[in-house]
Amino acid sequence: MCGIVGYIGKRDVAPLLLEGLQRLEYRGYDSAGIVIAGKSGGLKAVKAKGRVRELEARVPKRFAGTTGIAHTRWATHGAPSDVNAHPHLDTEGKVAVVHNGIVDNASELRAKLEADGVVFASETDSEVITHLIARSQAASLEEKVREALKVIEGTYGIAVMHADFPDRIVAARNGSPVVLGIGEKEMFVASDVAALISHTRQVVTLDDGEMATLKADDFRTYTTSGTRTTATPETVEWEAASYDMGGHDTYMHKEICEQPDAVDRVLRGRIDDKFSTVHLGGLNLDAREARGIRRVKILGCGTSYHAGMIGASLVEGLARIPADSEPASEFRYRNPVVDPDTLYIAVSQSGETYDVLAAVQELKRKGARVLGVVNVVGSAIARETDGGVYVHAGPEVCVVSTKCFTNTVVAFALLALHLGRIRDLSVADGKRIIEGLRALPEQIQQILAQEEDIKKLAAEYAEAKSMMFIGRVRGYPVALEASLKLKEISYIHAEAYPASELKHGPLALIEPAMPTVAIVPDDSLLEKNRAAMEEIKARSGRILAVAHREQEKADHTILVPKNEDELDPILMGIPLQLLAYHTALALGRDIDKPRNLAKSVTVE
Ligand code: F6R
Repeated sequence: MCGIVGYIGKRDVAPLLLEGLQRLEYRGYDSAGIVIAGKSGGLKAVKAKGRVRELEARVPKRFAGTTGIAHTRWATHGAPSDVNAHPHLDTEGKVAVVHNGIVDNASELRAKLEADGVVFASETDSEVITHLIARSQAASLEEKVREALKVIEGTYGIAVMHADFPDRIVAARNGSPVVLGIGEKEMFVASDVAALISHTRQVVTLDDGEMATLKADDFRTYTTSGTRTTATPETVEWEAASYDMGGHDTYMHKEICEQPDAVDRVLRGRIDDKFSTVHLGGLNLDAREARGIRRVKILGCGTSYHAGMIGASLVEGLARIPADSEPASEFRYRNPVVDPDTLYIAVSQSGETYDVLAAVQELKRKGARVLGVVNVVGSAIARETDGGVYVHAGPEVCVVSTKCFTNTVVAFALLALHLGRIRDLSVADGKRIIEGLRALPEQIQQILAQEEDIKKLAAEYAEAKSMMFIGRVRGYPVALEASLKLKEISYIHAEAYPASELKHGPLALIEPAMPTVAIVPDDSLLEKNRAAMEEIKARSGRILAVAHREQEKADHTILVPKNEDELDPILMGIPLQLLAYHTALALGRDIDKPRNLAKSVTVE
């Protein structure tokens, strides 16, 4: 969840690292720090509570060096503060460590170190790593780090500098991403390619249990037990420009507006008109295996769990395989029955979410077949699964997800169509879905064109203290996701309920100050949805409908173009992204960096 960036080469390191931190800020933004190897020897560190700009303001003019590591934090152990910010240095100021992840046995290790006279500066779990390295008697930095890692339980992505070994940075990974950026007589290390992509697109992704030594003109990788590993740099496909704001005021706005292109990308090259199906290259599931699937279980967290819910209804609808979606975080702790005929699908935009990864590992250990629906190519979940579908949304920088959500659902539509056409979906239905998919980019554009109207509605609803979102069957996950989006960035309390459940309790909440957003597609449940709106109106509730035609019972209707019933949820969520966005804007929220949140939850 935190961000790491490091550099060794010939350039002035501080501006490079600060720029890298800015690009990583979406991973955590409560404090930040930087350490460099000073020209006259020794390490020089600066840390600051708050955003990277606070750190930048503190970095002295004379802060010259060509090797350094830096970190932007999302607090787990110890409140955000200057001292708890990384890098953590040992008492002599010789060893500096930046760490992502959690040291599970930190209290035990800390107690032992304190009993030996070590004085801790911070409350963090990460600081134990620094002291363990500093106390190691091993001859090389690599060996010191290795010894420290031997006693650590938990997850880590680390970068380490040592004043006695100024020619290198040592990095290691176990459960938290670490990538190396390979340049011309310069090397980078980072937790995310975002930090280095404007300098090099040649990257090596470390595996769990792998370490690396970076020197200005050389790098090598090896396991934590010292065996050399082969690391061939790969070229990152994402453009550096994808990480810029591109003329928008926020990343969220940019990413909402990118959706027509993003959807076009996930469809590109995959549609097979001849057989009214799709080709999914990396699925690793032949037709016989696909026919043998008796259930589909989708696992994800937050927005990805919601995308999985729509995915499940697509799989059930098009492939007629019983399917459901469950929070991966719950699944992994309830000792689930793992069935050999069930296809498990892990959904994750980042491909790094710890709860999802842990669920995948548990499933694999029990012999299950697990596919991934993932955005980040080569991420941990993409690598851990047996195959899958890439979402191709491009980098998403805003902490809350919009385009990744939409593309994930479209990827599920492709998967469902593929499975359906291997099973009992007719050619005509295959064709119908393909036409629907092809219509999506243009239809999304039509929704985006209504932004000014949605902005006016947002101004009207922004004064609400609490909002209700309702939908039925396919509309329910849309309601869930829309209510999550509103909560995340506007901090307005929001509840999502199946419309059918209203009278079983939540109707008690309805009153003029509690507006309802109703998802009302023109499908077989239209009358049922209208009845729910009737019930709300009878209790003087205000209603904003998202529908295919004007709704009389609603105070306002946002009109969405009609697609195939199965694909309608993809479109119905989009105006509600804009509604959440403009509500948050009207309330003056920090939209790209909502309080208490960070992108990529790589800790439990
Ligand atoms: C909310 C959001 C989160 C993530 C969740 C899982 O807008 O993006 O709910 O969906 O933290 O992350 P991924 O999808 O990266 O596994």
